[in-house]
Amino acid sequence: MTARLLKILQFPDARLRRRSKPVEQVTPAIRALAAEMLEVMYDEPGIGLAAPQLGEAIRLVVMDTAWSESPDAKRDPHVMLNPEIVAREGRQVSSEGCLSVPDFQAEVERAARVVARWTDLEGNPHEEDASELRAVCFQHEIDHLDGVLFIDRISQLKRSLYKKKRSKALKLEQGA
Ligand code: NI
Repeated sequence: MTARLLKILQFPDARLRRRSKPVEQVTPAIRALAAEMLEVMYDEPGIGLAAPQLGEAIRLVVMDTAWSESPDAKRDPHVMLNPEIVAREGRQVSSEGCLSVPDFQAEVERAARVVARWTDLEGNPHEEDASELRAVCFQHEIDHLDGVLFIDRISQLKRSLYKKKRSKALKLEQGA
């Protein structure tokens, strides 16, 4: 574990709502941030994390949809610079959560299949045709880069119930 394990921003932090800037150049700072994001993701644990969740408004995402906490599970980390969805089709509904949206899960409707493109830390371009969980993960993480959270994609009623629950929890935290 690094000395400086970055804190994940949580709803309703306004920094989660910014539109992130493209990564123009892979600097040592970008590499360090990517490494730290992977560490935070595995530590939480999560299957994806976007730079804005750590307060960095840049288009950088880490993902590993293959790993699990079981000791024999293999890690398959991906660092994605400027990821984008270039095609989408169909619909699927699945339960989502987010490290930035504490204590909440909800069913979210998204495209069933997406084609995503990004570049890696070495500047190599990648394209992937993704479905199921992996398609959900791409859409969820790329949403973060545009300041969108999965709770923006559920019904207004469910969202306002969550907001109430969240503000109560925050008041309790502050009062404690
Ligand atoms: Ni998230």
